[in-house]
Amino acid sequence: MARPSRPAITYEAPPNIALVKYWGVRDAALALPYNSSLSVTLERLRSRTTVRFDPALNADQVELNGAPASGGPKEGVVRFLDRVRDLAGISESADVRSANNFPTASGLASSASGFAALAGAATQAAGLFLSDRELSRLARFGSGSACRSVFGGFVEWRAGRRPDGRDCYARSVYGPDHWPELVDVVALVRDAPTKGVRSAEAMQATVRTSEYFFQRQQELPARIRGIRAAIGARRADRLFPLIMEECDSFRTACETTHPALDYLTSISRAILAEVQGLNRQAGRFVAAYTHDAGAHVHVFTLARDRAMVRRRLAGVDGVERILTVRPGPGGHTVGPARAGGRVRGRAGRTRGAAARVRSPS
Ligand code: PMV
Repeated sequence: MARPSRPAITYEAPPNIALVKYWGVRDAALALPYNSSLSVTLERLRSRTTVRFDPALNADQVELNGAPASGGPKEGVVRFLDRVRDLAGISESADVRSANNFPTASGLASSASGFAALAGAATQAAGLFLSDRELSRLARFGSGSACRSVFGGFVEWRAGRRPDGRDCYARSVYGPDHWPELVDVVALVRDAPTKGVRSAEAMQATVRTSEYFFQRQQELPARIRGIRAAIGARRADRLFPLIMEECDSFRTACETTHPALDYLTSISRAILAEVQGLNRQAGRFVAAYTHDAGAHVHVFTLARDRAMVRRRLAGVDGVERILTVRPGPGGHTVGPARAGGRVRGRAGRTRGAAARVRSPS
């Protein structure tokens, strides 16, 4: 008789934007980064992923944003499922459906939310119940930054020092409600190119070829301490210059890579210049820009300056859409978590099936 399929599990995870960037892997087999990184988990945006392991399937089926996945994106998901199958000691193929409520592969970190959601859904669907820390350790094998999307608020991914990676994990350093005045005004630019080279490969080109990369490593511990302290004290005047210093350092690392990596368009650069002009005119740090390996720009400001910052960004030619997002909660299961699975550590947090995610405005 055919074995019954296991229940489908749905898990939602948000993207995050790094204030201190992960860029460079010191151990590829264990997915260990050179440096610690620190990010803000974003509310309202999410990847929602449903996984069901089914003995009747003879290969994994993967649907991303309503269309069958193929090539690199599908291979990444299948590789990750193999890891989960190994961990759970199962061999069934899986049906995976995942959708984002924001533009994919555009600098809004869909790989972070996507692999965090896949990790949450696939492990539970395979009968594994991991603690959030263990889930985060697993998620980084899909995409490094995914390990931070398991947690809400302000999240640090500690690089650790141990060769076995036991001290390499993400954790929330301040919760989503720590600093309610802090907002991220995201400027989506027209004609944002979709990524050419995967960041996992691009960052290793930086490690190999950028003369600046190791200098950046020397600078990072002080910068990360400063950023953590400024967030702790809710001091925008200290945080904003450090966010931009770090973004510029990341961009320098990319630009000094051979061949050079350039993720920005002329519109993105006009946004950076607008933020600099705004701060100069105001004589204070009203806002801070940062960006990932993509063309859209995140502009942090305080709630009282939000309307002004939005107006200024809307005036930049080529800015197509502006979203305002705040720090938000981390990943969670949608609907009841399965009982009776093999429990490893604390079960993931769950939220009722009725929970709704408002679409971004
Ligand atoms: O997680 P990956 O492999 O997509 O790399 C993320 C790299 C950056 O987004 C540029 C930095 C970061 O820490 O998120």
